[in-house]
Amino acid sequence: MKNDPRSQYTDSVHFYGKTTPEALLRAFGSPLYVYNETILRERCRTLKGLSAHPGFAVNYSVKANANVFLLRILREEGLVVDAMSPGELYMDRLAGFSPEEILYISNNNSEREMANALSHGLLISVDSLSQLERFGRLARGGKVMVRLNPGIGAGHSSKVVTGGKKTKFGISLDAMSEIFALTRRFNLTLAGINQHIGSLFMKADDYLDAVKVLLDQVDRLPDDIRGGLEVIDFGGGFGIPYHKYDGEAPLDMAALGRKFHSLICAWSERSGYRGRFLVEPGRFVAAECGVLLGRVEAVKTNAGNHFVGTDIGFNVLMRPVLYDSFHDVEIYRPNGSGFDGHTLVQTITGNVCESGDILAKARELPVMREGDIVAILDAGAYGYSMASTYNERQRPAEVLILKDGSAKLIRKHENLADLARGYEGLI
Ligand code: LLP
Repeated sequence: MKNDPRSQYTDSVHFYGKTTPEALLRAFGSPLYVYNETILRERCRTLKGLSAHPGFAVNYSVKANANVFLLRILREEGLVVDAMSPGELYMDRLAGFSPEEILYISNNNSEREMANALSHGLLISVDSLSQLERFGRLARGGKVMVRLNPGIGAGHSSKVVTGGKKTKFGISLDAMSEIFALTRRFNLTLAGINQHIGSLFMKADDYLDAVKVLLDQVDRLPDDIRGGLEVIDFGGGFGIPYHKYDGEAPLDMAALGRKFHSLICAWSERSGYRGRFLVEPGRFVAAECGVLLGRVEAVKTNAGNHFVGTDIGFNVLMRPVLYDSFHDVEIYRPNGSGFDGHTLVQTITGNVCESGDILAKARELPVMREGDIVAILDAGAYGYSMASTYNERQRPAEVLILKDGSAKLIRKHENLADLARGYEGLI
């Protein structure tokens, strides 16, 4: 890859270990999600380093990537996990997490889903008064968590801002007295409070402000309620630099950690709180350890626009279509250099029957041709987990580059028979 004009990032982190993108695609098919174990472990350690407070833990939000092999690595690294559906809970358990290591952060759950989480002995966070009442009827005398909306929001797109006035999430702070009335009515212990302001911030200020808001709410809890509190969960949203080739700076986790640590230490000293403090990142853990590989299958020029057609449809990676998200792209030419130094503004598309099926819009890149390999960087979070079988295409395989540099298949490519699942006995 050293000869490729556009592989500096993956070269710099030895992403593919002892193997190569070409060998991976030959062995496991295209497109292909590739993860790097070393990078995944590094991100876990960075997050754990945010605070040395004895009650501090990192609660991975598995919606970002629920591959069971990755979850097992996170468990080895000492992370705990969330779940927001019976399916996520199932995957958490499959990966070996015990009920004490799983927090159920629900949204608009049916009674059945709540009962399922309760049957596993999980602590459940509810995020509306009506859900709190439902919980009370279901588990009178039990323990519950509530999700508050701190009035502060952040995120890379309005679609992922989950705090503030315009979101469906959380209970607003002016309804605290109604929370207390419901917990008293159903004899519930308020065992935790949580929040999540949104997904992807690159500056710590909003997050730290929201931390202060939540701690302030705990200070205001009535005495009979405050004593039951054992979890304070500040949520996730820690950003990663998607514009790697433009030199975008990463979030300064060391500075964030210093401020966060001193905030929670000073507050617990003052308040006497002895419970846990959680952060709940998804993207920061999983995004940068993942690259999505695909193949250029066609090139064409339509009305002066240069299109590069790949096998990475938006069924495989939805983020660019759904949020206009930017992912950096690398290009490799199998069997040596062959690039002549020319660049062109090109638009990289997938193979789905919609004109919005665009992975990378009007990028100046080396001139691509059929057979080249395209690598979409930072695809480890919200990549596979949001993939679908639209156009009746099957989801790709997933491969992990282990610490020793070798590649291990961690999920098989789906096949046509998978498309027939659910019809057994019906057709
Ligand atoms: N906790 C809760 C309650 C959440 O809803 C989320 C994300 C997280 C934690 C983790 O947030 P993170 O650290 O990953 O930002 N599909 C979108 C992101 C949606 C995030 C939804 N909730 C994307 O591809 O950017």
